[in-house]
Amino acid sequence: MKFFADTAEIDEIRELADAGLLDGVTTNPSLIAKSGRDFMEVTREICDLVDGPVSAEVVALDHATMMKEAETLRKIADNVCIKVPLTIEGLKTCRKLTDEGTMVNVTLCFSANQALLAAKAGATFVSPFVGRHDDNGVDGMELIRDIRLIYDNYLFDTEILVASVRHVTHVLESAKIGADVMTAPPKVIKALVNHTLTDKGIEGFLKDWQSTGQSILAN
Ligand code: E4P
Repeated sequence: MKFFADTAEIDEIRELADAGLLDGVTTNPSLIAKSGRDFMEVTREICDLVDGPVSAEVVALDHATMMKEAETLRKIADNVCIKVPLTIEGLKTCRKLTDEGTMVNVTLCFSANQALLAAKAGATFVSPFVGRHDDNGVDGMELIRDIRLIYDNYLFDTEILVASVRHVTHVLESAKIGADVMTAPPKVIKALVNHTLTDKGIEGFLKDWQSTGQSILAN
């Protein structure tokens, strides 16, 4: 499963990229606003740091203006993936951009039928939002299971990009279901490393090592 970072914070992206944990980045208008940065500048910096797809979202609601915005966004770098909302206008834009060879991430997916439409429109990625479903008392992971089943039934190429990931269990469940990608805030990706037995093990090994009085670096 590929790991994308759901952030527009350069330092966080760099840290994950340096650890070899990053296959791409997703941004959205809220994350850009939170960064307080110019969207062109910050998107360019992210594209320089990461080899994989970097999702940048259009904000227009109609197809013609979405295409104009996509034109600006895809000039930033070759690895820009245009994010469009799951509306008829967004799907039209998806079809056109896909036909032109541009990667498209169809976002704000909340049902398996919507995901079916995204695949038919030729999306590179579809982004089902699991956390926002959970917030409303619906099991978000059930949606991922349904989409996996449908995409496998018809051998669609569209990759399932699990979005709105809030905790490490979402990551584990996504991997078990066979999602292609998950995008999460860096703090969730970093939390995957945590285990008390790892910490306890390090503590025990260090204690025993100190009792030998030896030093690796002294050699
Ligand atoms: C995905 O591309 C979205 O940017 C993101 O995952 C939304 O997450 P949220 O529901 O935590 O805002």
